[in-house]
Amino acid sequence: MRNKAASLQLATLPLLLLAGLLPGQAQDAGSQYAGSDTCGTCHEDLAAAFQKNPHYVLEQGDRHEWKGKACEACHGPGQKHAESTSAADIIDPGKLNPAATDTICLTCHLNQPTHVGRLESSHVRNQVSCIACHKVHATTRSAMTPRAPAVINELCASCHMNVWAKFQQPYHHRLPERAMSCVDCHNPHGTPWPAMQQTFGANEPGCYKCHGYLRGPFTFEHEPVRYESCTICHEPHGSPNPRMLIRQEVSTLCLECHANLPAANSKGTMGVVPPAFHDLRAPQFRNCTVCHQKIHGSYVDRNLLR
Ligand code: HEC
Ligand code: HEC
Ligand code: HEC
Ligand code: HEC
Ligand code: HEC
Ligand code: HEC
Ligand code: HEC
Ligand code: HEC
Ligand code: HEC
Ligand code: HEC
Repeated sequence: MRNKAASLQLATLPLLLLAGLLPGQAQDAGSQYAGSDTCGTCHEDLAAAFQKNPHYVLEQGDRHEWKGKACEACHGPGQKHAESTSAADIIDPGKLNPAATDTICLTCHLNQPTHVGRLESSHVRNQVSCIACHKVHATTRSAMTPRAPAVINELCASCHMNVWAKFQQPYHHRLPERAMSCVDCHNPHGTPWPAMQQTFGANEPGCYKCHGYLRGPFTFEHEPVRYESCTICHEPHGSPNPRMLIRQEVSTLCLECHANLPAANSKGTMGVVPPAFHDLRAPQFRNCTVCHQKIHGSYVDRNLLR
C-alpha cells in the first residue's frame, strides 16, 4: 500500500520534466542549455555563492557530465528562460510538488547507502521533500547537510514538537544537552524498519550501536528482548523512570506480562498470591529487578537472577 501511494505520486510527474533532465533528448528551444555563465549574468549572487557549494563539483565536471552547466542539472535546460526571463520557462524545484522535487535530486542521489527505504519512508509518504531539510543553495557543506547534533535536533523538532517535548522529561537520551541527535536512532531518509529506525549489523536494533553489551547471545534469554523491540519496555525519547521504562514503576511493567505467575510449583515457591514466594503484598517483591538483575538475558541463570 505504501509503495503504491509513492509510485502513484511519481507517476503523476510531468514527463516533460524528466525528458528535460536528460541531455540531448528533445529538440525544441525549451530543452537547450544556456550554461551556468549565462545564468550568472542575471543571478549574480547565487552564482557567486554556488562556488562554495558542494554541488560545485558538478560545474567543474570532476564527477558528472554537467561541466559548465551545473545550474541546469536541477533547474532543467534554461536557454528559453535566459531569453525570456520568465519564471514560467524555468523549473524551480522549490515550487514543484515534493515527489517531483525528490525525483530531481534522486537522479543523482539514488542508491546511496542512507537512502535505502526512501520509498518506504514516512517522510516521502507525507510530502516532506529533500529540500525541507537541505538548503541546496547554502554555501557550506554543513549548512547544506545538518551534522551538528544541536542543528539536527532543532530541524527535526521544528516539525516533531511532540517528540521534542518527551525529551524534556527527567530521564532522556541527552539530546537537549546536545550530546546526541535524532539521527543516532533514526535515518531521516527511511529504513526498512518501523519509524525509520537505524539498525545495527544486518537487522538488529540500532540501540546496539551504543548498548552493545546487551546484545548477547545469552544462554538464557528474556524472550521479549529478542522477539519484541526494546520499546516494548523502554521509551527512548524520555520517561519519568530512571531507566526510561514505559511505566514509572518497574513491577507494573513486569506484571503486565507476568501477572499469571503460576500459583505454586512443587517447591511452593512461585506465584504472586500468598503463601507463594512472590508475595506482592510485601514491598521487597515489588522491585523485581533487585533480584532479577540480568533482565536482558543471563549467561548462567534461567531466572535471570545473576
Ligand atoms: C537575462 C537574465 C536571466 C538569465 C540569463 C537567467 N535568469 Fe533566471 N530569472 C531571471 C528573472 C528576471 C527572474 C524572475 C522571474 C519572475 O519572477 O517572474 C528569474 C527567475 C528564475 C528562477 C525562479 C523561478 C520562479 O519560479 O520564481 C529560477 C529557478 C531561475 N531564474 C533560474 C535560472 C537559471 C538556472 C538560469 C540559467 C540557465 C537563469 N535563471 C538565467 C532572469 C534571468
Ligand atoms: C542541486 C540542485 C540545484 C543546483 C545545482 C542549483 N539549484 Fe537553484 N534551486 C534549487 C532548489 C531546490 C531551489 C528551491 C529553493 C531552495 O531550496 O533553495 C532553487 C532555487 C533557485 C532560484 C529561485 C530562488 C531564489 O533563491 O532566488 C534561482 C534563481 C536559482 N535556484 C538559480 C540557480 C542558479 C543560477 C544555479 C547555478 C549557479 C542553481 N540555481 C543551481 C536547486 C538547485
Ligand atoms: C546532477 C547530479 C546531482 C543532482 C541533480 C543533485 N545532486 Fe546533490 N550532490 C551531487 C554531487 C556530485 C555532490 C557532491 C558529493 C560530494 O562532494 O561528496 C552532491 C552533494 C549533495 C549534498 C551534500 C552531501 C554531504 O556530504 O554533505 C546534499 C545534501 C545534496 N547533494 C542534496 C541534493 C538535493 C536535495 C538535490 C535536489 C534538490 C540534489 N542534491 C541534486 C550531485 C547531484
Ligand atoms: C527529514 C529531513 C531530511 C530529508 C527529508 C532528507 N534529508 Fe538528507 N539528510 C538529513 C540529515 C539530518 C542528514 C545528515 C545525516 C547524518 O549525519 O547522519 C542528511 C544527509 C544527506 C546526505 C549526505 C550523505 C549522507 O548520507 O550522510 C545527502 C546526499 C542527502 N542527505 C540527500 C538527501 C536527498 C537527495 C533527499 C531527498 C530524497 C534527502 N536527503 C531528504 C535530513 C534529511
Ligand atoms: C517539514 C517537517 C518535518 C521535518 C523537518 C522532519 N519531519 Fe519527520 N515527519 C514529518 C511528517 C509530516 C511525518 C509523518 C507524520 C508523522 O508520523 O508525524 C514524519 C514522520 C517521521 C517519522 C516516522 C514516524 C512513523 O511512525 O513512521 C520519524 C521517525 C521522523 N519523522 C523523524 C524525523 C527526524 C529524525 C527528522 C530530522 C532529521 C525529521 N523527522 C524532520 C515531518 C517532518
Ligand atoms: C535513543 C534512540 C532515539 C532517539 C535519540 C530518537 N528516537 Fe524517535 N524513536 C525511537 C524508537 C526506537 C522509536 C519507535 C518507537 C516504537 O517502537 O513505537 C521512535 C519513534 C519515533 C517517532 C514515531 C512515533 C512517535 O513517538 O511519534 C517519531 C516521529 C520520532 N521517533 C521522532 C524523533 C525525533 C524528531 C527525534 C529527535 C528529536 C528522535 N525521534 C530521537 C528512538 C529514538
Ligand atoms: C548514539 C548512542 C546511543 C544509542 C543509539 C542509544 N543509546 Fe541509550 N544511552 C546512550 C547513552 C550515552 C546513555 C547514557 C545517558 C546518560 O548518562 O544520561 C544511554 C542511556 C540509556 C538508558 C538508560 C540507562 C541508564 O543507565 O540509566 C536506556 C534504557 C537506553 N539508553 C535505551 C536505549 C534504547 C532502547 C535505544 C534504542 C532505541 C538506545 N538506548 C539507543 C547512548 C545511546
Ligand atoms: C522486558 C523488558 C525490557 C526489554 C525488552 C528491554 N529492556 Fe532494557 N531494561 C529493562 C529494565 C526493567 C531495566 C532496569 C533494570 C534495573 O532496574 O536495573 C532496563 C535497563 C536498561 C538499560 C540500563 C541498565 C543497563 O543494564 O545498562 C539499558 C541501556 C537498556 N535497558 C537498554 C535496552 C535495549 C537496548 C533493549 C533492546 C535490545 C532493551 N533494553 C530491552 C527492561 C527491558
Ligand atoms: C512484554 C512482555 C514481558 C515483559 C514486560 C516482561 N517479561 Fe519476563 N518474560 C516474558 C516472556 C514471554 C518470558 C518467557 C516465558 C516462558 O518461557 O514461559 C519471560 C521470562 C521471564 C523470566 C524467566 C522465567 C522463565 O520461565 O524463563 C523472568 C525471571 C522474567 N521474565 C522476569 C521479568 C521481569 C522481572 C520483568 C520486569 C522487569 C519482566 N519479566 C517483564 C515476557 C515479558
Ligand atoms: C526477592 C527476590 C525476588 C524478587 C523481588 C522477585 N523475584 Fe521473581 N524470582 C525470584 C527467584 C529466587 C525465582 C526463582 C524461584 C525458583 O526457581 O524456585 C524467581 C522466579 C521468577 C519467575 C520465573 C517463574 C517461573 O515460572 O519459572 C518470574 C517470571 C519472576 N520471578 C518474575 C518476577 C516479577 C514479575 C517480580 C516483580 C513483581 C519478581 N519476580 C520479583 C526472586 C525474586
